[in-house]
Amino acid sequence: MIRTLNVGMIGHGFMGRAHSNAYHRVNQFFNVPFQPVLKSVAGRVKDTTEAFARRWSWERAETDWRRIVEAPEVDIVDVCSPNNTHCEIVLAAAAAGKMILCEKPLAINLDEGCQMTAAVERSGKANMVWFNYRRVPAISLAKQIIEEGRLGRVFHYRATYLQDWTISPGVPVGGPATWRLEKAVAGAGVSGDLAAHNIDTAIWLNGPVARVNAMTEIFIRERFRRDGSPARVEIEDVCSFLARFENGSNGTFEATRYARGRKNKNSFEINGEKGSIYFDLENMHQLQYFSHEDLPHLQGWRTILVTGVEHPYMANWWVPGCVTGYEHTFVNALADFLNCLEKGERARPDFRDALETQAVTEAVLESAQTESWITPAALDP
Ligand SMILES: NC(=O)c1ccc[n+]([C@@H]2O[C@H](COP(=O)([O-])OP(=O)(O)OC[C@H]3O[C@@H](n4cnc5c(N)ncnc54)[C@H](O)[C@@H]3O)[C@@H](O)[C@H]2O)c1
Repeated sequence: MIRTLNVGMIGHGFMGRAHSNAYHRVNQFFNVPFQPVLKSVAGRVKDTTEAFARRWSWERAETDWRRIVEAPEVDIVDVCSPNNTHCEIVLAAAAAGKMILCEKPLAINLDEGCQMTAAVERSGKANMVWFNYRRVPAISLAKQIIEEGRLGRVFHYRATYLQDWTISPGVPVGGPATWRLEKAVAGAGVSGDLAAHNIDTAIWLNGPVARVNAMTEIFIRERFRRDGSPARVEIEDVCSFLARFENGSNGTFEATRYARGRKNKNSFEINGEKGSIYFDLENMHQLQYFSHEDLPHLQGWRTILVTGVEHPYMANWWVPGCVTGYEHTFVNALADFLNCLEKGERARPDFRDALETQAVTEAVLESAQTESWITPAALDP
C-alpha cells in the first residue's frame, strides 16, 4: 500500500518549480512506495507565495519557513532557497526530526556543511542533496559503462560548465536568481554554483579528488544593485582547475558565466585505456562512446540515443526515441529517494557526499587564492 509523506518546501523560485513538478509526477511515472503530499510552501512575500501555492497545488502558503519546520504533520523539509539560508534551515529541521532534501551547494562554506552533515546524521533521518545531474539517464549510463569496465584504466577526466548570462555589466547584484552574484548569499561564485555539479559527477564517476590547483578571475568588479546603488563583486566569475584523482587520473575543470554562446554546457569527457565517453547537457539525451575493442575498421565515436527501455530510468518514461529533459532528472531523483527510504538505504548523493564536494570546492578556492596545490580537507567520519 502506498503511504503518504507530507512535504514542506522552502523557496519557490527556479528550483521550487522543478521540485513541485517532481512531487506531482513521481507517482504517475514510478511505482514507488510513498506518495508525496504538497503540504506547505514558504516564501518571503505573501502574495507571490500564495499565487505559487495555487498554481502548483500546495495546500498552504507560509511567509516564515519556521512554521514548516515546526509543523508536526510535515515529514520532509525541502530546502530550495538561496545558499546562505541552507544551514539555519537544515539545523532547525534536523533538530525537529524531519527528513531533509536540500538543494546544492550544500552550504556557503565547509564549516557550515560540516555542522549540517553532523546534525542530519545525529538525527538519523533520511536525507539527500539535489545534485540532479546524476539522474540524467545518459550520465547514469556513463556510470554503468564505467562499472562494466568498458573504459579500463582512466587517464583523463575533462569537465566544463559554461554559461554566458553575466557578461553584461547591467546584470544586477542581489535579488531573484542574481543573488548568485552576492558573496554573502551565494558563498562562492561559479565554483560553488557550477563547478560543484561537475565535482559531484566526477567523484561519482571517477572517485575521490586527491588535490587541486586552481585559477579564478572576476571580470566585472563593479556592478549595481536593483535599487541602482553600486555593488562591488566579490564572487569569482570564472574558475579553472587541475585535479589529481586518487585513482591516478588527471582532471581539468572549467566553470564560467563568460563563455559567449554557451547557455548550459555541462559536459565531461573521460578517456580510458579501452574507451572514452563524452556527455554534454545541451544534448542530454545522448551519450558519445568510443570503444577500442570494436573491430579496427569499425572503430569510431558512436552516439547512443539514451531513450531505450534498457537505459537507466527510461522504462518509466515514454517509448524509445522520445527524449526526456531537464525536469525529468528531478523526478528520477525523487523516485530514487523514495525507493531508498523504503529499503533503509542511503539516497545518494546525501549530505555526506555533498560535503565531500564542498571540501573540494573549498580547496579550489583556497588554491586560487594561494596559487598552490591544495588537498581537500579530510572529513570526520
Ligand atoms: N540542482 C540544480 O541544478 C540547481 C539549479 C538551480 C538552483 N539550485 C539551487 O537551488 C537553490 C535555490 O535556487 P533558485 O535558482 O531556485 O533561486 P531563485 O532565486 O529562483 O529562488 C529562490 C527562492 O527562495 C526564496 N527565499 C529566499 N530567502 C528565503 C527565506 N529566508 N525564506 C523563504 N524563502 C526564501 C525566494 O523568495 C525564492 O522563492 C540554491 O541553493 C541554488 O544553488 C540548484
